[in-house]
Amino acid sequence: MSNYLSLSETAELIGKSKETLRRWDKEGILNAVREPVSNYRVYKKSDVQNFLGILFDETYEDEVSNFVEPQNEYAVLELFAGAGGLAIGLEKAGLKCVALNEIDKWACTTLRKNRPNWNVMEGDIKEFDFTQYENKVDVVTGGFPCQAFSYAGKKLGLNDARGTLFYEFARVVQEVKPALCIGENVRGLLSHDKGNTLKGMISILDEIGYNVVSVEVLKAINYRVPQKRERLILVGIRKDIDIDFKYPTPHKKVYNLSDALKKGELYDSDVPESKGAKYPEYKKKVLDMVPPKGYWRDLPIDIQKEYMGGSFYLGGGKTGMARRIGWDEPSLTLTCSPAQKQTERCHPEETRPFTVREYARIQTFPDNWEFAGSIAQQYKQIGNAVPVNLGQEVGFSIIKFLNSYYNLSKPK
Ligand SMILES: C[S@@+](CC[C@H](N)C(=O)[O-])C[C@H]1O[C@@H](n2cnc3c(N)ncnc32)[C@H](O)[C@@H]1O
Repeated sequence: MSNYLSLSETAELIGKSKETLRRWDKEGILNAVREPVSNYRVYKKSDVQNFLGILFDETYEDEVSNFVEPQNEYAVLELFAGAGGLAIGLEKAGLKCVALNEIDKWACTTLRKNRPNWNVMEGDIKEFDFTQYENKVDVVTGGFPCQAFSYAGKKLGLNDARGTLFYEFARVVQEVKPALCIGENVRGLLSHDKGNTLKGMISILDEIGYNVVSVEVLKAINYRVPQKRERLILVGIRKDIDIDFKYPTPHKKVYNLSDALKKGELYDSDVPESKGAKYPEYKKKVLDMVPPKGYWRDLPIDIQKEYMGGSFYLGGGKTGMARRIGWDEPSLTLTCSPAQKQTERCHPEETRPFTVREYARIQTFPDNWEFAGSIAQQYKQIGNAVPVNLGQEVGFSIIKFLNSYYNLSKPK
């Protein structure tokens, strides 16, 4: 069976739903074959790999551009700033970060090291009062960690979220009163507490005077990022403003690992050398047997069982386990620690995790952005970040919105 992939494995690898694959099968876009005994739809591995090659074709011309020039200097307050992935993306788009808050001392050191002029407010957000920025900031952004609040099926007010970091995000928005507030989060927020956490957040933003635009999950691969990462974006528009916010248009061209690590359109040199983590001996032996774009299913059956332990018998494709990335595909989502069990993303040619600088490139950080702290701290900061290019594209949407706002609604 190792030359075939199940429907769910194929769906996971291609990043499409099973329904889409069934439709594609009918339409002849990607044909499945029937497994003779069970009659289940399965896919020839070679067909899927060829298809991925076409999907991520490097020669594809991209005609989409979201670029727009800011007509004024627009100010951003970035909360939960981490090592600055979103902040640099917004800066690249043309926005000005007037202040950033972050609790982690190494992430703060990173921010200060690279941008000595940024006002980095180090410490727990709960300890800061932001009223000095009232009406002085156009956008408040922040990737608040996701926590549930007790939701009893009624409309929630700000006080119902007390004790959570979303409460702090909303409290700052209330203090600062920006035209826009933008939260970023993981896709899991959609289903967190059966959708009630997100519903509660929308209700709270409504209570403090913000209409929430329909929530979207943006795929980083559509925004010049060589990685299959997704970010949920929550946009609130102050209620006195009647202007649409438009999410950035997805690009057609998808970049691959080779675009991240080798000289090309994304970077004008090969990735610089840097330190990196190593796999323990046993993991290295196992991963040595996995080819590029392969994963645990490429191992001999006895090793599959030994390596996967109990997971071997559980359902689902688990295509991220013992995974070696290929040069001609985007990387799978990077995590905060590169040798973590069950989410291995091995280098295509060498049996090792990506180095720190390779990690940073896959997240589209510039090569001159230095990270502070131990190697583990550096991986964590990079793995936590919003990819810089995705941040830039969201930044263009913010600028478009603010240009219209200042042109139409504000008396000069
Ligand atoms: C998902 S990361 C943000 C990544 C960042 N937007 C970027 O693009 O690099 C969330 C950040 O929130 C920070 N954080 C968590 N609790 C906090 C608190 N109480 N006050 C301030 N920052 C906090 C974490 O240290 C972490 O860096």
